Amino acid sequence: MKAIRIHETGGPDVLRYEDVELPPPGKNEVRVRHTAVGVNFIDTYHRSGLYKLPLPTGIGGEAAGTVEALGDGVTTLKPGDRVAYAGTLGAYAEANNVPADRLVKIPQGVSDEVAAAALLKGMTVQYLLKRTFAVQRGQTILFHAAAGGVGLIFGQWAKHLGTITIGTVGSDDKIALAQSHGYDHVLNLSKEDWVKRVRELTKGEGVPVVYDGVGKATWDGSLDCLAVRGMMVSFGNSSGAVPPFAPGILSTKGSLYVTRPTLASYTRTPEELQETANDLFAVIASGAVKIEINQRFKLSEAAKAHEALQSRKTTGATILLP
Ligand SMILES: NC(=O)c1ccc[n+]([C@@H]2O[C@H](COP(=O)([O-])OP(=O)(O)OC[C@H]3O[C@@H](n4cnc5c(N)ncnc54)[C@H](OP(=O)(O)O)[C@@H]3O)[C@@H](O)[C@H]2O)c1
Repeated sequence: MKAIRIHETGGPDVLRYEDVELPPPGKNEVRVRHTAVGVNFIDTYHRSGLYKLPLPTGIGGEAAGTVEALGDGVTTLKPGDRVAYAGTLGAYAEANNVPADRLVKIPQGVSDEVAAAALLKGMTVQYLLKRTFAVQRGQTILFHAAAGGVGLIFGQWAKHLGTITIGTVGSDDKIALAQSHGYDHVLNLSKEDWVKRVRELTKGEGVPVVYDGVGKATWDGSLDCLAVRGMMVSFGNSSGAVPPFAPGILSTKGSLYVTRPTLASYTRTPEELQETANDLFAVIASGAVKIEINQRFKLSEAAKAHEALQSRKTTGATILLP
């Protein structure tokens, strides 16, 4: 089969489109023939070496497709079932062997493309809004990269939960899109004193939670947007990793909390994974959350997808088509 692999870390050009031998699925594994592959910012961290993987390696962690073969011991799935996964490496490929208990069935009415675009990003939004910091109706909250893949899902789901949501974007052309996906206020990071604006919008109080996937560039400002005893949720680093900090900073800014969550630790058991996915599929089915796939690339063009994502040219979700 064809797959994108890396033999060294670096820029998008290290992504190689290669012939790969996929072994039969092992015990408790399922071979999934991919129909759509999700592109996520974490894939760029793996490629660049910010998050280390043993090399050479497959890349990508999210895909949808059809069950093609079962390894020994698999009783929960059968060939032909439509499934998706988030968090198993090697998704940038025509097929992948995935542990059966990391697969979720795609419900009727949800296309494979939507599943590949939504599962990882949408389950992330689920745990951020409901479990890392359980937002309450009427609270004003802040989310960075509002027009991004996670961002467009977040804005809609937050609106559904009744929050007043402030989003940030990097350029004016993304403002209307964010506004039409649930954000009540959209601030341009590159033009505005966004910390001051957040204080104004909260009558000086600050927000009880900041969801910050941008990292290095927004870390300091995000802490300054928080209310006393507020929660800094640092869940990504699209602008670079947050440098080490002294915990004393949290006392001077009002007894703040900081967490650095990952989807893996919120979908640790098969039951948690299924519940999180069910919650996502429910908001998609109800129409509360619509999935925007705004970029499609061929699998062989994964490097172009990474270039677009990292140069802040994309909005919503990006998928690769094998
Ligand atoms: N911890 C978890 O469980 C988890 C799970 C999924 C995703 N994430 C994180 O969530 C974030 C969003 O992921 P995504 O896949 O949906 O990506 P995305 O938001 O579609 O793309 C990243 C966005 O970050 C913004 N950005 C700000 N400064 C940037 C810079 N210097 N370079 C590039 N982008 C910059 C850009 O939006 P503007 O131009 O509008 O500023 C860009 O569109 C990422 O940090 C990702 O790692 C974490």
